[in-house]
Amino acid sequence: MSSPFVEMRRTHSCGELNHSHVGEEVVLFGWVHQRRDHGGAIFVDLRDREGITQIVFDKAHGADAHAAAQDLRLEYVIGVRGKVASRGANVNPKLPTGAIEVHAEELHVFNSARTTPFVIRDEVEASEELRLRYRYLDLRRPAMQRIFHTRHRINQVTRNYLSSRGFWELETPFLVRFTPGGARNFLVPSRLHPGSFYALAESPQLFKQLYMVSGFDRYFQIVKCFRDEDFRLDRQPEFTQIDLEMSFVTREQVMEVMEGLLARIFEEVLGQKLQLPLPRLTYDEAMARYGSDKPDIRFGLELCDVTEAVKEAAGGGVPVFAEAVAAGGIVKLLRLPGGGGMSRSELDKLEDVAKSFGARGLARAKIGPDGSWTQSPLAKNVEPGLRARINELAGAQEGDVLLFQVGPAKQVNGVLGQLRVQLGRKLGLIPEGSHAPLWVHDFPLFEYSEEHQALVAAHHPFTSPRPEDVPLLSTDPARVRSNAYDLVLDGFEVAGGSIRIHDAEIQEKVFQVLGIGEKERQEKFGFLLDALSYGAPPHGGIAVGLDRLVMVLVGADSIRDVIPFPKTQRGTDLMTGAPGDATPAQLEDLHIRVVLPEG
Ligand code: AMO
Repeated sequence: MSSPFVEMRRTHSCGELNHSHVGEEVVLFGWVHQRRDHGGAIFVDLRDREGITQIVFDKAHGADAHAAAQDLRLEYVIGVRGKVASRGANVNPKLPTGAIEVHAEELHVFNSARTTPFVIRDEVEASEELRLRYRYLDLRRPAMQRIFHTRHRINQVTRNYLSSRGFWELETPFLVRFTPGGARNFLVPSRLHPGSFYALAESPQLFKQLYMVSGFDRYFQIVKCFRDEDFRLDRQPEFTQIDLEMSFVTREQVMEVMEGLLARIFEEVLGQKLQLPLPRLTYDEAMARYGSDKPDIRFGLELCDVTEAVKEAAGGGVPVFAEAVAAGGIVKLLRLPGGGGMSRSELDKLEDVAKSFGARGLARAKIGPDGSWTQSPLAKNVEPGLRARINELAGAQEGDVLLFQVGPAKQVNGVLGQLRVQLGRKLGLIPEGSHAPLWVHDFPLFEYSEEHQALVAAHHPFTSPRPEDVPLLSTDPARVRSNAYDLVLDGFEVAGGSIRIHDAEIQEKVFQVLGIGEKERQEKFGFLLDALSYGAPPHGGIAVGLDRLVMVLVGADSIRDVIPFPKTQRGTDLMTGAPGDATPAQLEDLHIRVVLPEG
């Protein structure tokens, strides 16, 4: 049946009508969000991407439309022509269009809809599994549409800002040669080269450096990256970076561009002004004060290192302290002012929380009126001198609770750092809607890998050392700091980058430390080393994890909420069923035989 509606144009979206439109004839298209039959009149909330408008079907305005509206059900796709009317005293203050309604004169049903597996509304009742299986319906929810609008705006702001700062948007390949060192890669078998594989690019790192060698000066890209990593709340196997690289720059210049971009995003997307320059912490400071290289600095609860005091007191009578420092470990504490207002049993439960972060236990002490320690297994052993010194270092007052960790620095920081964040949230110390970006810099250039029993590159092998640390490359490489920097936002690493090595001699030394011989170098990075030998400008860059940034800015609980079609924790797409089987013919084409593990 042909209908004038097919030719009719929408006059407005469902989010834009207000009092100034009263009396106008309008045409709206959208989905039936709600339907209420009030005997005489039928009320429909019509929804599109921009909002919701109340439509009233009444015999008096259009008898046919009113009759047809009897059959409308949720999620039917309809078009309505009618007049905008004031709602008078019945204004709905929750809706931007709440002052008006449209009196329908004509109704056209574009499509009916089966009953959806969950109701399309912001209050989520369905399981995440069901929502992911019907993701296209989940994405209809107004809250989701707002998230993706924000994401769109961040992309636009990024493109405009970086273009205005002289960056060219250039692309890099996804199907690349496997280069070791970073995350685990996804492999793609080559049909034309049986037994050979492409890797899916984990980032455009090498190609953006090659762009600098090619003289493009400033490059950026909003780009998909692929990493076959273990899942976390803030990780996906397929994610997006805002990737950039610049020639002839120092780290200050890269940071300045990045700060400008972040400030622009904050201003245009959140309407918030960022105070620049952003605060900075060295890696060592961040670990010392927050037990984390991505600290949430929106609240205090800073950690206090008492290792030196313990050493000076030769353990101070506390066996666990003495053992820890004798084994090269540290002693640190977190002071909870007033015990955080927690009861004794609540404090007891913190031990389990600490254990879930890998602690063996969580010794604590409550400060008595005279500085004594109570409710504490440490109380009976600790020498008064050490106790007083620890109280002084921690700034402990009566009623405060000290939470101790002892052992290897990595473990102590890991446990107290996570406990701090947990307590910050539990005690409501984080101001709602506040954000606190900062730089963390001067990371170690190398880190010790238990797996390889050797030093490995903390970032990648082309990250330059701090110039003043270059001599340490030959004498004490573990102490070399890098010219790398991370941008941290509310406890998440949202960007990371570095100034790269462009000097063959330094590169040589770094390879030596990493134990990468001539043959291996040529095999793995030959093309980049060749390129760097043909006149490479000094260069550096950074990459923002766009998904993480959006997640933090919109206050989402999981990175999955800001990726339109994400993977589950187990790497599957519940909607399409990926990953799926390959047919025998496909496998034969690729010269691949699948050998499944037994059982
Ligand atoms: P890096 O590996 O630190 O650096 O990645 C940059 C940023 O990307 C985000 N990110 C992720 N987001 C979601 N899921 C993941 N699996 C994931 N992995 C990383 C993080 C991180 O800060 N080539 C370098 C950049 C450079 O040196 O210029 C790189 O990729 O927010």
